[in-house]
Amino acid sequence: MMETAIDPNSRTEHRPDLAEEMRLLLPPQTIIRRKEPLARRTTLRVGGPADIYVEPASIEELQSVIKFCAEQKLPLFLLGRGSNLLVRDGGFRGVVVCLCQPHFSRIETAGEHLSCGAGARLKAVAAEAKRRGLAGLEFLEGIPGSVGGGLRMNAGAMGGEIFQVVESVRLIDLKGRIEERAPEDLVVRYRSCQSLKTQIALGAVLRGQPALPSQIAERMNEFSRQRWDSQPAAPSAGCIFKNPLTIPAGKLVDELGLKGARVGGAYVSAEHGNFIVNDGTATAQNILELIELIRGRARAQRGIELETEVEIVGD
Ligand code: EPU
Repeated sequence: MMETAIDPNSRTEHRPDLAEEMRLLLPPQTIIRRKEPLARRTTLRVGGPADIYVEPASIEELQSVIKFCAEQKLPLFLLGRGSNLLVRDGGFRGVVVCLCQPHFSRIETAGEHLSCGAGARLKAVAAEAKRRGLAGLEFLEGIPGSVGGGLRMNAGAMGGEIFQVVESVRLIDLKGRIEERAPEDLVVRYRSCQSLKTQIALGAVLRGQPALPSQIAERMNEFSRQRWDSQPAAPSAGCIFKNPLTIPAGKLVDELGLKGARVGGAYVSAEHGNFIVNDGTATAQNILELIELIRGRARAQRGIELETEVEIVGD
């Protein structure tokens, strides 16, 4: 979340007029909704509504939204494809922005470079790279996120992580200023890009290496097979915890005998210990309690402090 607000009186639930004010500032193509349910916009399928939900259709509209939030001191949250996100049951008291209109979802290829909008799906990026005969991006195939979310989390799979293939990132700050940055200029770690907690990714240029599409396809199929063999298909947020240095979190949960452990409609997947699955009836509270149960057992029995990988937002 981008904290533009600290004053509780600026919170959106006390200001039902805010969405109307925003509407007057923006053209009709900007989608603005009040009390937008977020559960269906996350892969975990839990969580309450956003007080205000916005889909800008252009950079200028996004700049207006950012300016409005700064002036009104409203908390701003950038929603990607919701695949690494746990929204609490009370929802989000602020403005949720999603860059999913076509302007932000473009993928353009030039030589060995793919210029991708923040809203483009990582799966679509991997498919386009394959079509253009560019190798090295196959691991993105199985990550159910967007480019923006992937950058924010430094998403990874199959030994790869997105910042290994990033040439440059286009950012906008909370004053609406746009800049292009090299990855070396950003604070990038395992499953996080700290710089994107205070700035918003508009897109990135990714780099591939020329290869035969058949070889790329073979690698993608192999990754896909490995994923289906080891990870559940049911609704989840991918891995819940970051891997500690000493043991993969999934293996630890498995060794603690917690596979199948359940709180309400949330349970630990039998296929992979680092996945919490929603049986269709889970609440965010169920998932949070199950997370705490696992953390408590890891701490008590193994002295390991598990840290969540999923972003947890809302009230
Ligand atoms: N393992 C168990 N029991 C389990 C799960 C795993 O013993 O229930 C063992 C496996 O046999 C293996 C080791 O733990 O020896 C590691 O498991 P796996 O290969 O599944 O990889 P992981 O470390 O659990 C990481 C990423 C995944 C990514 C996979 C595949 C993290 C937290 N997780 O999982 O990323 O898909 O590698 O490359 O870094 C995500 O970030 O959301 C995510 C799913």
